[in-house]
Amino acid sequence: MASESTAQRRRLVVGNWKMYGSRQENTLLLADILAGWEPLAEVDVAICPSFIYLPQVAEALQGSAIAWGGQSLNPDDSGAFTGEVSGPMLADVNSRYVIVGHNERRRLRAETDQFVALQFVAAQRAGLIPILCVGESAEDRAAGNALAFITAQISAVINLAGIDAVARAVLAYEPIWAVGTGKTATPEQAAEVHAHIRQLFGERGEQLTIVYGGSVKANNAAQLFALADIDGALLGGASLNAEEFLAICRHANTAG
Ligand code: PGA
Repeated sequence: MASESTAQRRRLVVGNWKMYGSRQENTLLLADILAGWEPLAEVDVAICPSFIYLPQVAEALQGSAIAWGGQSLNPDDSGAFTGEVSGPMLADVNSRYVIVGHNERRRLRAETDQFVALQFVAAQRAGLIPILCVGESAEDRAAGNALAFITAQISAVINLAGIDAVARAVLAYEPIWAVGTGKTATPEQAAEVHAHIRQLFGERGEQLTIVYGGSVKANNAAQLFALADIDGALLGGASLNAEEFLAICRHANTAG
């Protein structure tokens, strides 16, 4: 079990707003977040709203310590792809991050490991930091295949992008059975997977930011962040509540 110091790595908390929000709700949520914000020396924080609200979020967060990003992107930079959004478009509204390979898109949009690898490369080409989501289903875990499944997901990206490029990105371990279900991986389960992911990168693993996602709330975040290999969180539901979101960011700042 890896227990290296996290000293070289900053922590990261990202709110994935998914397909929630409206201009009015976003205004209120962002105002509450900014009103309760206190400087966090150890943590980077970002919010990924629906594409259509990125300019609104960017305007509200401009000049604050909170970055923003997309929830997906098309692998091409431009072209006749109706309904799609490209990396250069996300960069054009000053996004810092983009989520790739979220399990909801892998399932709802049939995004394959190879497609996710293309998205990853496109994100870095546009100067964005990809947040590469990986994670096993309940069936894979029950069958003892969790680590092999995750390794295959990551290997597809390493094969296309190269190991150095992936080590510069952010990995998010999100067990499918924990996303939006209220079931969190136990600290032992999460620690095992995070340590496994880190060792896939050898020495480069020391710099790799690996966050956990799946029903992280203010009341379980501290326990997860206390683990050496957990560098933060990708939040769904908890990022839609200012108090929860801020409390989790504060936990990330004081962990370790
Ligand atoms: P959740 O979602 O926190 O609502 O489980 C996490 C995610 O989808 O990134």
